[in-house]
Amino acid sequence: MLIPKRILTVSSANMDFVMSVSKIPQGGETQLESGTYQFVPGGKGANSAVAVRRLGGDSVFCCRLGKDANGSIMHNIYKKEGLDTRFIVVDPDAVTGLGAIMVEPNGQNRIILFPGANVRLTREDIDASFICRPDALLMQLEITQDAVMHAAWTANEKEIPIILDAGPANPDFPLEDLPPLEIFSPNETETEIFTGINPSNPDNCLRAAMELQKLVTAKYYVIKLGGRGCYIYDGKYYHCLPAYGVNAVDTTAAGDAFTAALTLEYLRSGDIVRAGRYANVVGALAVSKKGALPSLPTEALVNKFIADKAIRL
Ligand code: RIB
Repeated sequence: MLIPKRILTVSSANMDFVMSVSKIPQGGETQLESGTYQFVPGGKGANSAVAVRRLGGDSVFCCRLGKDANGSIMHNIYKKEGLDTRFIVVDPDAVTGLGAIMVEPNGQNRIILFPGANVRLTREDIDASFICRPDALLMQLEITQDAVMHAAWTANEKEIPIILDAGPANPDFPLEDLPPLEIFSPNETETEIFTGINPSNPDNCLRAAMELQKLVTAKYYVIKLGGRGCYIYDGKYYHCLPAYGVNAVDTTAAGDAFTAALTLEYLRSGDIVRAGRYANVVGALAVSKKGALPSLPTEALVNKFIADKAIRL
């Protein structure tokens, strides 16, 4: 039996307030809805950490939660999911992060984030988590710049590969100050924010990837293209990997699930193209279910999808 790969996620945790809306209201408009709303655990970091675990990885999560009802619900869920929760800090002076999410009938979402405890994650919290001796560090940009930089340089010193998901894009984030990364993965919007190029076709993907290469050193640049799949560039060669068709009901957390799957399968196989195809499968399954955490597929579901569709990774 192979020892599962251990991924340390240093990132965010939010409770998502998810509103299913018929359309996005105009300024000054009061819109009456017949649909539903729900509170669903989410946050880019938590989504990735849970996805890693459901896909068969060993998942260690380092984040800050507020000392409130949402924080306590989420903490219990992480324990039930089987995450290593030793490095989750409960902050008595902060509220748990909140994502207010509007989901339109076509599955597209718009998110407003109240970071709360996420931006109080300290260097000491992060240092403590590295005793788990991870095979890789996974991060997004929902914690402070200082926390991202500190975790990245700590991993670099310990020769631990770093996977950085560029969401949510902050054009002021000093990408050039990061140590060399294993994988840098923005989505379409984030790619455009960082490079000024919309990766709308393969030519633009290549132009954008080459611009990203000037901003941040990485072994692989993986641009997430949503319903079009993903684009992988290694500084010399590129691969356009198409998405697998599903009925998209909610895109929330699909990118987080994609990055988690990409990281895990890359660690397991050492093959970035295989990992990209695997991540496309996981992303497709995540958009076919509503919510953040509830939409994350298990390894068994992913294997069934691969077998049913006769997908060759
Ligand atoms: O990527 C989706 C996530 O972004 C949501 O769960 C929300 O909390 C925000 O972090």
